[in-house]
Amino acid sequence: MDRIANPFAPGVGVPPPELAGRAAIVEDGIVSIERNKRGLHAKPLVVSGLRGVGKTVLLHTFRVYCEDQHYGAAFIEATEQGGFLRSLAQELRSSLAVLRRASLSDLGRRALATLKSFSLGVGGEPNIDDGVNLDEIDYQDANTGDTAIDLQRVLVAIGEAVGERGSVLCIGIDDVQDLSKDELRGLISTLQAIAARKLPIAIVGAGLPNLQNSIADAKPYAERQFHFVDIGSLSVDDVRRAVETPIVRSGASISDDAIAKIAAVTQGYPYFVQEWARDTWNVARGNTIIEEDVDAATPVALQRLDRDFFQARLSRLTQREIDYAFALATLGAGPQGTEDVASKFGTTSAACASLRERLIQKGEIFSPKTGATQFTAPLFDDYLLRTQQPAQR
Ligand SMILES: Nc1ncnc2c1ncn2[C@@H]1O[C@H](COP(=O)(O)OP(=O)(O)OP(=O)(O)O)[C@@H](O)[C@H]1O
Ligand SMILES: [Mg+2]
Repeated sequence: MDRIANPFAPGVGVPPPELAGRAAIVEDGIVSIERNKRGLHAKPLVVSGLRGVGKTVLLHTFRVYCEDQHYGAAFIEATEQGGFLRSLAQELRSSLAVLRRASLSDLGRRALATLKSFSLGVGGEPNIDDGVNLDEIDYQDANTGDTAIDLQRVLVAIGEAVGERGSVLCIGIDDVQDLSKDELRGLISTLQAIAARKLPIAIVGAGLPNLQNSIADAKPYAERQFHFVDIGSLSVDDVRRAVETPIVRSGASISDDAIAKIAAVTQGYPYFVQEWARDTWNVARGNTIIEEDVDAATPVALQRLDRDFFQARLSRLTQREIDYAFALATLGAGPQGTEDVASKFGTTSAACASLRERLIQKGEIFSPKTGATQFTAPLFDDYLLRTQQPAQR
């Protein structure tokens, strides 16, 4: 069919033509934002899941919601390279438009002065005040160098000013697993300060599975302060919605068999569903997509997936890390005993602990529970078995 009109365009963080199966979570997030706006408590929503299940697009949904409502929205992606606080300073700056809608109040100027000192402390933009006169403003320095103190000061000042306007600021943090322990700890104690003062700041986060443990690790019992939602693959009905709705909207149709086939080959993983839907559309000849079209698209989709999704992961690994990953893959999909992986790798858990740790750091594997190891990317095991011959290892 017409490639130009293809509604499917998979990509990292690219909103799908139809966001299927996430209505309840979207509602949870919006309720949390609106409760915060009213000064009512709501635990921050933290979405976790494997690679490509749609965490980033969910955060994007909340951002769009806030922008539509003219609420403040500061959305940041944490990275392994750091720089989270600087990005936050930058995003907070743009989110402060909400304070300027009428002329800036004293609280607004204080928020701006605090943000300016915070920004300077983290090596951010010095001209954050945009020419506003901040002389003789009474504020607390937010560049003491102590992450928890600085974060708390800047967000409390901003929260007070946003509250005065009757608005809310939503802070979205993607890839929470890449925050440093210090940043995570600072954020957790800031959340307590915000909640205690009933300030209208809503936080939504997303990251790889096991965030619950990283949060508990950063601060004991802190996991109780969050509302965790684990997302995964889509049900067959949701795959139908994700695939059929955009096709029908584009004036075409798809058979039940074809939908079932896409659900089966992708195991319902959202990113893969988008890939298969895209390629199936491209190879289909008639206006109704049939199962044979899915079959014809499968080698194309697999090849693209290998190149764009899996190879990129592999290229970040050393040969020994690949060997360890291969050992894990031979045990099958899902969580595997860390001891079993080690013995498959021909050694003991203790001997390959640092290797395993590096793979966790690189975001390729995680520990779903004590003593277990699992890939963060669905079907990565399958990819390794297909492409990594033992002779090449
Ligand atoms: N609920 C959904 N229905 C249909 N398609 C979806 C859904 N969620 C995500 N997608 C599609 O899946 C792809 C991956 O989404 P996204 O980048 O948000 O995943 P992610 O979980 O953030 O992945 P990563 O862990 O790699 O950052 C995108 O192309 C997106 O359009
Ligand atoms: Mg993402």
